[in-house]
Amino acid sequence: MFNIKNHELYIDQVAVTSLAKKYGTPLYVYSENKIIEQLDTIKSAFLDKYPDTHAAFACKAFCTKYMCRLLEKEGFWLDVVSGGELYTAIKSDFPADRIEFNGNNKSDEELIMALDYGINRFVVDNASELYHLEKLCIDKSVKANVLFRITPEVSANTHDFISTGKKDSKFGIPLDDAILYPLIEAAIKSDVVHFLGFHFHVGSQLHESNTHLSALEVILKLILNTKERFNYTISDFNLGGGFGIKYTDADHPIALTEFIKPLMHRLDTFCASHEIKRPHVSMEPGRYIVGEAGIQLYTIGNIKVIPEVKTYASIDGGMTDNVRPGLYGAKYHALIANKADLEKDTLLDISGKCCESTDILIKGLSVPSPERGDILTVFSTGAYGYSMANNYNKLQIPAVVVVKADEHELIVRRQSYDEMIEREV
Ligand code: LLP
Repeated sequence: MFNIKNHELYIDQVAVTSLAKKYGTPLYVYSENKIIEQLDTIKSAFLDKYPDTHAAFACKAFCTKYMCRLLEKEGFWLDVVSGGELYTAIKSDFPADRIEFNGNNKSDEELIMALDYGINRFVVDNASELYHLEKLCIDKSVKANVLFRITPEVSANTHDFISTGKKDSKFGIPLDDAILYPLIEAAIKSDVVHFLGFHFHVGSQLHESNTHLSALEVILKLILNTKERFNYTISDFNLGGGFGIKYTDADHPIALTEFIKPLMHRLDTFCASHEIKRPHVSMEPGRYIVGEAGIQLYTIGNIKVIPEVKTYASIDGGMTDNVRPGLYGAKYHALIANKADLEKDTLLDISGKCCESTDILIKGLSVPSPERGDILTVFSTGAYGYSMANNYNKLQIPAVVVVKADEHELIVRRQSYDEMIEREV
């Protein structure tokens, strides 16, 4: 995906500085080849290897019409969590029968929008949502497929902010017999919802599958209890997302095939030993599909030297286009695209443009002597960068460009000042 010619960094066959020049900075850049490579890995590690499976893209990681169209073409599903994400899918003509709807507080408006579009399934997050959805289904004389998101009471080895399977979590139905089983029974007996099975999502940026394996044990018990108590065999199980990627040399996520293998093996052997038909299995990764496929470009501006302390290089973006360092202490690797293989003799802290002391994108980055106008390239920024962008300090949301071998295409225009204030009355 990357190479260096004449000290210049290339993404696929395009010089990174030529993109900065044509589209301006800050800029989000994606390699379409890399996205497709990730989709192909999901096909070989999961879809093609195990029958009766599907994979959805958790579109919160990078929700754009471009992604919807690409995923549609590649045969993937879409996992949405809001009316806005669903609207993006609808406007991209994404097939309704490949959409699932997650989220802990879907509004009436959002549920109705999803029912009207005829999406495939809802991942019900709590009891009140189930009863509410049933009411809306009756009003509209439609039937909805539902999975229950279970809180499996496991903690994941990741940042606390993105660990989602613990007992005290805002997500999912608690593992409490008095809550869970009446709800399962209600869904099984309902005339307006069709109960498909269970779902969990235990956390994000996970390097191995131990947490998923612990959560799976909880689901297996539920599958068995549901069979024994209600004589009902679930048809579907969704193991969520969370597969980690490489941000820096300190990250060593295991290969997807290794992540998935023990989960599918455990599920298969469990079902065989209990003479239960193995449910259809789905996953919903976000970061894994787009994270490493994206880079961000910035222009270096002011350079401030504090003698005997450190040097700051300021860039023309920051926590508005990548909030992850400020929010989670996320670490990134970067280099200066126009000095890609020159000797590194300076240690920098890269500071964003926002009026916020935590707006430091990278601490202690080693680079060749930096100058105003240099193009800084930050790697592995394809997930949760553009999708979490904001207008703090009224900075504009950057443009997004996709590189396809030696070509490139603008898929999102840079926000204009007028667009920023057009809703203000
Ligand atoms: N499914 C559900 C129900 C989720 O909540 C999430 C992510 C995913 C799937 C996809 O997870 P992934 O495969 O991308 O790890 N903003 C944070 C990540 C928050 C993840 C929220 N849920 C970050 O920048 O690290």
